[in-house]
Amino acid sequence: MPKTGSTAPPAATKKNTSKPAAATARNSTKPVAAAPVRSSAKPPAAAPSGSALEIRDTRTSKTYSIPVAECAIRATELKKIKTDDPNDSGLMSYDPAFLNTASCRSAITYIDGDKGILRYRGYPIEQLAENATFLEVAWLLRHGELPTQQEYDQFVHDITFHTYVHENFRKFLEGFRYDAHPMAMLNSSIAGLASFYPSARNIFDETERNISIIRLLAKTPTIAAFSYRHVKGLPFVYPDNRLSYVENFLSMVARMSESKYDANPVFARALEILFILHADHEQNCSTSAVRGVGSSHVDPFSAVSAGVAALFGPLHGGANEQVLRMIKEIGSVKNVPKFIESVKSGEGGRLMGFGHRVYKSYDPRAKIVKRLADEVFQVVGVDKDLEIALELERIALADDYFVSRKLYPNVDFYTGLIYRSMAFPTDFFTVLFAIGRMPGWLAQWEEMLLDKEQKISRPRQIYIGLQERPYRSRLTKKE
Ligand code: CMC
Repeated sequence: MPKTGSTAPPAATKKNTSKPAAATARNSTKPVAAAPVRSSAKPPAAAPSGSALEIRDTRTSKTYSIPVAECAIRATELKKIKTDDPNDSGLMSYDPAFLNTASCRSAITYIDGDKGILRYRGYPIEQLAENATFLEVAWLLRHGELPTQQEYDQFVHDITFHTYVHENFRKFLEGFRYDAHPMAMLNSSIAGLASFYPSARNIFDETERNISIIRLLAKTPTIAAFSYRHVKGLPFVYPDNRLSYVENFLSMVARMSESKYDANPVFARALEILFILHADHEQNCSTSAVRGVGSSHVDPFSAVSAGVAALFGPLHGGANEQVLRMIKEIGSVKNVPKFIESVKSGEGGRLMGFGHRVYKSYDPRAKIVKRLADEVFQVVGVDKDLEIALELERIALADDYFVSRKLYPNVDFYTGLIYRSMAFPTDFFTVLFAIGRMPGWLAQWEEMLLDKEQKISRPRQIYIGLQERPYRSRLTKKE
């Protein structure tokens, strides 16, 4: 679709198969739906009575009993373990990168990394990807249940009529260089939205939270598409309220002179599925960033922009872009074994799109994406990059280096190939991930706010620096 010029963009064909937006009028008069959010702050599941961890401190020979609930101990309980030293403020746990520390109790997304299971609010990702729309999933993530028809229609209506951005956004986006990375544009634009909606700072007002969430879901595709058009030097295309969420996005990206944009239904459905697959992934780096920044009680636009920033990184959402660059660098199937050897020796960097902190088996999203890639490639034809990707996967999955470290393809391994086949530029891939992740960030942000146990996020540290010393200037004294 993003192919530009006078010819019809590749995504533009035939008829529209996605679920239609509920309304077609240009101006909304209806109030923004504010359905109640199900609280996840249930009391901890009762631990079998007396479940406890017995700890004996060999420094003092004292024994402590730490309650165990939900397979966890409260790290603050460790503070009670101390020596007689008056400066000892108690034991801490040390866990760089949170390898084994739960930062919250959440009812949104469940992952079993060993079994390759992913569920949103209890629903298997495979079933949602097959049957749901992205906006249904967005509602589900926030509210805990699938929407009724009435709730869905109102929600789609609300999203549809908040897709426009303030005209000043044109000037704001035009201020970026022609070669600005679209993730940098998206990140700063989403933060910039806070300046247009100052009342969003009333985060404990449910109506304010609701309209902010609607605005973020509605305007992110518009900002993303405007960033694309800016980089391409094309005029911005305004939202078309006759179209579904995904089709409208494709229209804003690729429409040229047609009065109404008809997206290729295979591409539109593929993008909808990819958005669903990306919609949430529990406490990943960007979601933790949103929760952490949001815990200062800043407005949601600022909190979510932190998520976009985190997603930009090549170890996180930026990996989809890096996979394509890696494949380009490999250049041909015959170079794959040499490349794999260079990864194993550490010289070639990491095999991008492989490995995951949580999944120690095949990422369930990657399985769906691989199948989806087959469908899309039936439309656009297989290219040599897919062959390189398949060969990389084949060799890596049989190689002891990857097998012993439980490194499997993750969601980003094949998404880039699909995006590229739709003619999206490589540096736009992570923006597509960000559009998909938005409902998850927002649901997690709200869950964090309504969780009575949460406070401002503030980890501790183990100080390893110098002890006190007197100031002695090392600058050259001026006469
Ligand atoms: N290629 C080669 N070796 C790897 C890779 C890889 N992609 N990933 C991990 N390893 C090795 C790593 O060198 C280490 O080996 P050793 O034990 O000999 O030191 C071992 O596997 C464990 O790695 P780690 O860095 O401790 O694992 P982690 O859980 O901290 O990192 C990861 C997870 C996703 C950052 C990492 O696997 C990686 O960098 N993958 C490539 C980037 C990527 O595809 N990211 C997208 C993640 S999925 C989408 C998302 O949610 O963002």
